[in-house]
Amino acid sequence: MVNRYDPAIEARIREVAAAGETPVLQRLREAKFISHNVPLTPTLCTRPGEPLIEASPRTRAIHDALHLYLPGGPRGKSAVDLGCLEGGLTFELWRAGLQVLGVEVRQDNLDRALLLRDHFRAEGEMAFLQADVREFRPGRRFDVVVCSGLLYHLDDPAAYIVQLAELTAPGGLLYLDTHVAPEDVELAECEFRGSLSPLRSRDAGGTTIRWRDYAEDVTQAESSVGNATSMWMDTDSHVELLIRAGFSRVFEMHGYFGPGETALKRRYARRYWAALKSA
Ligand SMILES: C[S@@+](CC[C@H](N)C(=O)[O-])C[C@H]1O[C@@H](n2cnc3c(N)ncnc32)[C@H](O)[C@@H]1O
Repeated sequence: MVNRYDPAIEARIREVAAAGETPVLQRLREAKFISHNVPLTPTLCTRPGEPLIEASPRTRAIHDALHLYLPGGPRGKSAVDLGCLEGGLTFELWRAGLQVLGVEVRQDNLDRALLLRDHFRAEGEMAFLQADVREFRPGRRFDVVVCSGLLYHLDDPAAYIVQLAELTAPGGLLYLDTHVAPEDVELAECEFRGSLSPLRSRDAGGTTIRWRDYAEDVTQAESSVGNATSMWMDTDSHVELLIRAGFSRVFEMHGYFGPGETALKRRYARRYWAALKSA
């Protein structure tokens, strides 16, 4: 396995740890991280008692995608982390050697991410922007686009796949981790069956898409903004829309959960995809 971290960044992380107590570290101790467990020093992390973000299956899949599908690997390339929450995956992308921008709509989530940036003295390498991703049209493209845990919160994920393609540079990589609509025969084993509508279908710019509606709990810090119902599209719709949007190769990633992985993915209605744009 290729070393997934940039040695210069790892050296910086060790320097930060050796610096001992700082006002930023004190604020990080007090901050309430709700999902991402980021190592701050060899003895301190953002969610003590939880597995570190580097060990999570989707993080391992992202690092694999960077090394398997990005010609020349990630070092020195640009990335955007859409719906970055408190910046854990942004941190992992930075650690891989990418110049990364995290985009997040909720300022309180972003405040914790900014503390991470300051703690690791990563200004200029790890940046954050408060924005609704649907309005995020930066007029530039990124070598790596990470869309993890976001697409299924949106009211029009089919339209957003076109936006994802516009954000991805030629030769670039989109990593997409999302929920999918289970087929009727899979519904009984799906954890979310009680919150999902019957399958629906419509035309989306010449592609027939199928989806189930999902009732969002908009009070949650990890949920949608501005839409109380989101769409979980089926597997075929995602693949078809990705190809139509300009991704010439789409790979589904397995091998992160051990035996029983496909049953687990049906249970949680989840898929990991790496989509590549031709150079
Ligand atoms: C389920 S969390 C996923 C967080 C992270 N990407 C991960 O995979 O761990 C979804 C995140 O997307 C953010 N979000 C939801 N809708 C958004 C939107 N329209 N624009 C920007 N961020 C959004 C939420 O605030 C939340 O932080």
